Amino acid sequence: MGQFRPPVEATELPGVFRYGELLLTRNLTPGRRVYGERLFSQDDVEYREWVPERSKLAAYLKKGGRFFPFLPSSHVLYLGASTGTTSSHVSDLVPEGRVYCVEISPRSFRDLVGVCEGRPNMVPIMGDATRADDLAFLVERVDLVYQDVAQKNQALIFSRAMRRFSARWGMLAVKSRSEDVAREPGEVFQESSGLLRREGFRIAEVMRLEPYERDHAMIVVERV
Ligand SMILES: C[S@@+](CC[C@H](N)C(=O)[O-])C[C@H]1O[C@@H](n2cnc3c(N)ncnc32)[C@H](O)[C@@H]1O
Repeated sequence: MGQFRPPVEATELPGVFRYGELLLTRNLTPGRRVYGERLFSQDDVEYREWVPERSKLAAYLKKGGRFFPFLPSSHVLYLGASTGTTSSHVSDLVPEGRVYCVEISPRSFRDLVGVCEGRPNMVPIMGDATRADDLAFLVERVDLVYQDVAQKNQALIFSRAMRRFSARWGMLAVKSRSEDVAREPGEVFQESSGLLRREGFRIAEVMRLEPYERDHAMIVVERV
């Protein structure tokens, strides 16, 4: 484990820490890494490096994104959890809350289950984000939907989940090439935002994620 000399500092965002250029979250499972990230400790607290090239949520923060509706007690529905890279950081952010992690691929799900094992606030769900009704019996209250499914119709899937679970806040990572490889990414992001606006959401922010992720944007919405 690395040792800091200069201090780890809290940021204005709950649960997010900074050390120089690095972003960190407080490790809910001290001594354990999820994706090879570095661990740091200070005053008997362990922190995990949050790598923006690996996590679009960290990329959003590095790009200056400031709509960050995670509170320690938040309940988050995470669609497209894959092997748990970003959702493990979300788990660090909501120690008194819950992260329902939905993943469709059995292979990724196996790794995800391993990550969830040490984290009591992480609930792995093997399921399909496009079938929100099927998830409902496993999911209680949802304050926030975070979606990163990299498949077609991302905005529509997201909007349906937001409504089904009456979430106030939502964060949608859009991969333009999953909608249409040939189209200009900016057009795809505009179209996704337009759909969400028509569905009755306020668009709080649209943030492109280059250079951390090519042809991706994070769209943050609030239900009004
Ligand atoms: C880009 S990866 C997600 C990376 C992850 N969010 C992270 O940052 O750690 C997209 C994931 O969405 C999953 N996925 C695609 N379509 C899905 C669906 N309909 N329901 C649930 N998961 C889906 C894929 O299997 C893949 O693991």
